[in-house]
Order: sequence, then C-alpha cells, then structure tokens
Amino acid sequence: MMVAESLASNNKVLKIRNLSTHYFSRRGVLKAVDRVSMDLRKQEFIGIVGESGCGKSTLAFSIMRLIQPPGKIVEGEILFNGKDLLKLKDEEMRRVRGKEIGMVFQDPMTSLDPLEKIGDQIVETIQMHEDVDKKEALEKAMKLLESVGLPGDRVNYYPHQLSGGQRQRVMIALAIALNPTLLIADEPTTALDVIVQEKIMEILEKMKREGRSIILITHDFSLAAEKSDRILIMYAGWIVEMGDSMKLVAEPLHPYTKGLIESVPDIWLARKIKTMPGFPPDLINPPPGCKFHPRCPKAKEICKREEPPLIEVNGRLVKCWLYE
Ligand SMILES: Nc1ncnc2c1ncn2[C@@H]1O[C@H](COP(=O)(O)OP(=O)(O)OP(=O)(O)O)[C@@H](O)[C@H]1O
Ligand SMILES: [Mg+2]
Repeated sequence: MMVAESLASNNKVLKIRNLSTHYFSRRGVLKAVDRVSMDLRKQEFIGIVGESGCGKSTLAFSIMRLIQPPGKIVEGEILFNGKDLLKLKDEEMRRVRGKEIGMVFQDPMTSLDPLEKIGDQIVETIQMHEDVDKKEALEKAMKLLESVGLPGDRVNYYPHQLSGGQRQRVMIALAIALNPTLLIADEPTTALDVIVQEKIMEILEKMKREGRSIILITHDFSLAAEKSDRILIMYAGWIVEMGDSMKLVAEPLHPYTKGLIESVPDIWLARKIKTMPGFPPDLINPPPGCKFHPRCPKAKEICKREEPPLIEVNGRLVKCWLYE
C-alpha cells in the first residue's frame, strides 16, 4: 500500500490543493479560482473546458505565478515535481518558467515584445536557459518557427508585421523552445484554421509521447474530447467535474457538463444545437449554494442553500448534490 502510494505520487508532475485566486476590485472580491484541487500525471494530456469567465486563464496564470494586482493567490498549494511553487523565491520561479513550465498565452501580445524582432525574442529565451551561442540559438529559432508552420525567415519580423494567427504560432514556438516538462496552452488555436490547428495539436501530442505533460485550455469541447486523456470542467471558479475524457463525454454526470456537450455543434447529424439557458454568474455576488443552480434543470431545494461536495462517482469526480 505504502509503495503503491509513493509510486502514484512520484508519477504526479503537478498537484494543486485548495487553490484560490481572487481579484480585489472596488465592487468587491471576485473569486475567479475557488478552492481548486487537481493532479496531473507525467505524460498526461488534460483539457480544461468551461464557458468564458469561469477562471481557466486565472488558474493557468496562478500555476505560472503570474497573477498581477488586483489579483492575488489567497490560499492553497501548487506542487510541481515536489516543489511548492508558491514558496519559491522570485528568482527560482523565473527559472521554472519557460524551462520547466512553458505557457502559450491566450493573448499573444502578453508575452511578445512589440519592439523586438521575433527571432531575437526566441534567441533570448533559449540563451537565458541554455549555453549556446547566438548563431546556434538563431538556427534553433528558425527550426522552431518551421515546426509550427511558419517560414524560418520570419525571425526577422516584428510582431506587428504578422497576422494574429501567425503571432499565436510564434507564441507556441516560444513556449516549446526549451522543451518544458509541463506545457500549458491557453486557447492556443483560436485564431487558426483547422489545418494549422491540427499541426499544433500534433506538436502537443508529440511532446506528450516524449514524456511531457500538457494542459490544454479551450472552449472547444470536441477538441478537448479528442485530444486529452482527462477533462476538467470549470464553472464559476469551481471544478465541477473531472475524469476520463471518453467516459465523461459518453456519460456526463454534472448537468453543466451535459449542457456543454449538448451545445456542441454536430455537423454530421446537423442536429439542432441546444443552447444552455442563462449566463455564468457574477463572481463577486455568486448565487448561494451551488453556483450553477439558477441554470440547472435538475436543481433541488438543497442546491439553493448548500455548496455541493466534490464526490467520487464511478472513478469520476463531480461536484453536485444529485449524487450525494
Ligand atoms: N485582471 C483582472 N481584474 C479583475 N478581474 C479579472 C481580471 N482577470 C480576470 N478577471 C475576472 O476573473 C474571472 C475569470 O477570468 P478568466 O480570464 O480566468 O476566465 P477564462 O475562463 O479564462 O475566460 P475566457 O474563456 O474568456 O478566456 C472573470 O470573471 C474575469 O472578469
Ligand atoms: Mg481565458
């Protein structure tokens, strides 16, 4: 038992416990990530899915420790390969970023310097962590650009000379430049056509085969279902369901997951898409009890009053009173 347990924990690249990240605004405290716990294994590909504003990017920024005021991580633990990231010195955390954890940002301009050529930015990243000369680093930069479907000579361009989709690919090249142990990709393919999207997905899948772990954040349920081993469903700062992708799609447990799946367009059956009624709540004044209850077709009395626990049902985790 002891041995099995320690093997299991060695296998974990990332372990998040009870993580909360809040934004402190004049209107009040916005709980963007609300006591989230999750694990990620070595060589695992997980998809994080949920509507706009449910806290996906905030969770990713928290892992990278890039939350800026008025945001703050207020509680919890983020263990990465055994290190508690929230306890590292800034200097130590800078070394983790890029080299050990790479991130593709949802907004390419967050991490591209508008005044510096693409090539120089990639070269700098490489030279910050690896002992190579400028020529070698530049060659590597060109290869990286080619691997994401851009001509190598784009190293000489400035970010504003590229289209949104091209910039997104430069970001991906930057994030994978150091072959990080964990790659977090936040909507990496939103501005890309399906052919380039597939190319990017192949890169992520190759990284996984080489033993890396991947977190893909996306609105696109079918993409997550197709590519990831496990799916995590976020709603209003909570993880409401988490489990094996195939099983989760075949038999969603949480009414929110069901709603999301029903609203996926199906071009083959050309069936009418059901849209979920209502909107995600204001996270400064969320509804009491289960934050999903005002939109939930299955809501009971208790859902309006008490927060549901996260419970295990058939190897899946679900935060819903239906299963208590
Ligand atoms: N800098 C900020 N200051 C104040 N509130 C913020 C800030 N960034 C995010 N929020 C709020 O935190 C909540 C979660 O935002 P987040 O960006 O994490 O959502 P998301 O799931 O990534 O959405 P999307 O799918 O649109 O990218 C939202 O309600 C948002 O308004
Ligand atoms: Mg986001």
